[in-house]
Amino acid sequence: MRLWLAPLHGITNYAFRNGLYRHFGGIDFAITPFLPVQETSKLNTRNWKDVWPKNNTAVPTIPQLMGNKPEHFVDTMNALHDMYGYEAFNWNIGCPVAQVVRRRRGCGIMPDPDAVEAVVRLVATKTQYKFSVKMRLGLKQPAEGLEILQRIEDYPLEFVVVHPRLGVQMYDGVPNLDQFDLFYAKTSHRIVYSGDVFSVDDYHTMKQRYPQIDDWMLGRGLLRDPFLAERIKGLPVGDIRARFLKYYQLWTDEMLAMVKEKSTLAKLKELWHYYAHLFHVSPERLQQLLRVNDFDTFFGQSLELMK
Ligand SMILES: Cc1cc2nc3c(=O)[nH]c(=O)nc-3n(C[C@H](O)[C@H](O)[C@H](O)COP(=O)(O)O)c2cc1C
Repeated sequence: MRLWLAPLHGITNYAFRNGLYRHFGGIDFAITPFLPVQETSKLNTRNWKDVWPKNNTAVPTIPQLMGNKPEHFVDTMNALHDMYGYEAFNWNIGCPVAQVVRRRRGCGIMPDPDAVEAVVRLVATKTQYKFSVKMRLGLKQPAEGLEILQRIEDYPLEFVVVHPRLGVQMYDGVPNLDQFDLFYAKTSHRIVYSGDVFSVDDYHTMKQRYPQIDDWMLGRGLLRDPFLAERIKGLPVGDIRARFLKYYQLWTDEMLAMVKEKSTLAKLKELWHYYAHLFHVSPERLQQLLRVNDFDTFFGQSLELMK
């Protein structure tokens, strides 16, 4: 079994990933949050800190790309290969955010199987890199995803990550496993499953339903419970509070060293939506915490919630 850290844009940047790996085990591979593809002359490499090799030594990591122009993929992949040695890339065709979809990127490209195939074809014919896609069921209907699976079936993809929701659903409801069954039956590509694995029980339920899937991606589940990968692998987790506290304090210090207090506070507030699960914090108490706008008060109160 291989456990993957999901790309979570705005959260799982290299600093976050490294903090996670330093303190918690169980993750075997990671995909970065997406980078836009561009033609060579317009590539903005200043934003590529996230994929610098020295920032990605702990766990094999695949850069994720977003875009819709086939040549831009080839240019960007060549640059990432030549500058940093990357040989595997993932394409995000699942992002449901409105501004992204409007520009026919992310999930916005799913209703256009010709455009999807054009990228996969050019990458396969013009490069030697390993290529994978990360998709949803579709933007508006599962027929879109099924058509894409058919189009990409004969290309040499490394794997296909499926998050079984529609783009228009965003993160509402639950993954549609009946539709995922159809997807799974339709493709011979290796599948990486992504979606709502929040506990060891969730993992076992899914593994029972899909015994042949060996690649499981953890996103929000790992934010809610950073011990989740260890637990799934049956590793002893020890003193959860003490281990989490050490992680939390060090990671907050690192954030403060990199960005202003205000940004660190905003990030901690975002994360506490997840950590509230680990420490069984009631919605009312969480709201109370999130209303605090002074960093030191917030940090002090958050430590109290871990007791
Ligand atoms: C805040 C947030 C940011 C995300 N950013 C990305 C991204 O950059 N690329 C991507 O392919 N998926 C992204 N996703 C989707 C996740 O990788 C994952 O597929 C999805 O959250 C379902 O898995 P989970 O239930 O384990 O979180 C994001 C999800 C969230 C909640």
